[in-house]
Amino acid sequence: MRVVLLGGAGYIGSAASHHLVSLGHHVTIVDGLIYNRGDDPGRLLPSAASFINGDLRDPDLLARVCDGADAVVHLGGIVGEPACQLDEELAVELNYAAPLLAAETAAGAGVGQYVFFSSCSVYGKHEGTVDEDTEPNPLGIYARTKVLAERRLPDVLAGATGLTSLRLATVHGSSPRQRLDSVVNSMTSRAVATGRIPLNGGSQRRPLVHVGDVVRVLADVLERHLSGKWNVGSDQENRTIADIAETVAAIVPGSKIQLGPERDEADARDYRVSFARLQQHIPGACSTTLKDGVQEIADLLVSHRITDPNEPQYDNHRGLLDAVTAGKVRSLRTPACQRYHAEYADAWKKQ
Ligand SMILES: NC(=O)c1ccc[n+]([C@@H]2O[C@H](COP(=O)([O-])OP(=O)(O)OC[C@H]3O[C@@H](n4cnc5c(N)ncnc54)[C@H](O)[C@@H]3O)[C@@H](O)[C@H]2O)c1
Repeated sequence: MRVVLLGGAGYIGSAASHHLVSLGHHVTIVDGLIYNRGDDPGRLLPSAASFINGDLRDPDLLARVCDGADAVVHLGGIVGEPACQLDEELAVELNYAAPLLAAETAAGAGVGQYVFFSSCSVYGKHEGTVDEDTEPNPLGIYARTKVLAERRLPDVLAGATGLTSLRLATVHGSSPRQRLDSVVNSMTSRAVATGRIPLNGGSQRRPLVHVGDVVRVLADVLERHLSGKWNVGSDQENRTIADIAETVAAIVPGSKIQLGPERDEADARDYRVSFARLQQHIPGACSTTLKDGVQEIADLLVSHRITDPNEPQYDNHRGLLDAVTAGKVRSLRTPACQRYHAEYADAWKKQ
């Protein structure tokens, strides 16, 4: 298959590119390398893939890469609420306008399948167990951009291009473009670097998934043309934040949990997710455990493959701040971006 990975040099995209190339697919990656030092993806990406350093809001570039593609996968955007809060207009352009623009282009070019990377963050805070039919409850900019994109993509693709939305659990584990800012990777790298695991309360429930499992699900979804909405993870990996801290403490020698205030008010997400739909279609998917991911991250630090976990490149909030300050990324306010921004403002004006 000819697969285009938009935002394909990121944490998940770089791992996906290697996996898809290993399966014999022809992979083209477009990425602006927002978090990388320099403009060379170097060892991040497989040499057999084509790489284009560009902006996902560039309509000419989108037209060029969609031409002749079998599938377009949108992994780009600003990931996580803290980074989105830095600049809401930029977040809306990258997380909402960009995937819609790519979908318009893919549909126009007759691409067969469009895969959108969404997030279980769309569920926000819920009692009981949520599944793909549960009404989303987005709690911030990041989740709102995802919910709105999921709602609008079917109109834009107009049935001509199959749509798959992958709502990922929180991802952990090692990848060529490493992130250390999501909960498991962050707790583990801090535990190795400082011996401490800060924990605020910890009762919030959070589903987890390993990055290697995500890219295997992506390959299955592409090869079997699975469309619709899918929670990506496994029921066994619904954890609490305290669970994660205890697992890290058990694996990183000498590390200790450091209890803080009862709850992290900045992040009210709390949900338990059913992954039954995915497991029914891909039995045994996402079986890598939290322990495996923690061990991988600990090994990265202990073996000095990562020497300073505090570098901004590992943290989307600080990395984006650097990129914005350096003028590497900014809101473009093109007519198309403004149109999508107005839709976003209109959709969430009551929030
Ligand atoms: N990592 C997780 O825990 C997680 C969980 C749920 C959902 N997701 C979703 O998966 C996708 C990938 O996440 P990730 O963890 O790999 O993030 P990431 O930040 O590592 O990767 C995103 C990539 O997109 C690129 N990018 C963003 N906007 C761009 C633009 N306008 N032009 C060019 N390049 C651009 C960045 O340079 C970066 O390489 C995202 O859509 C995210 O919302 C991730």
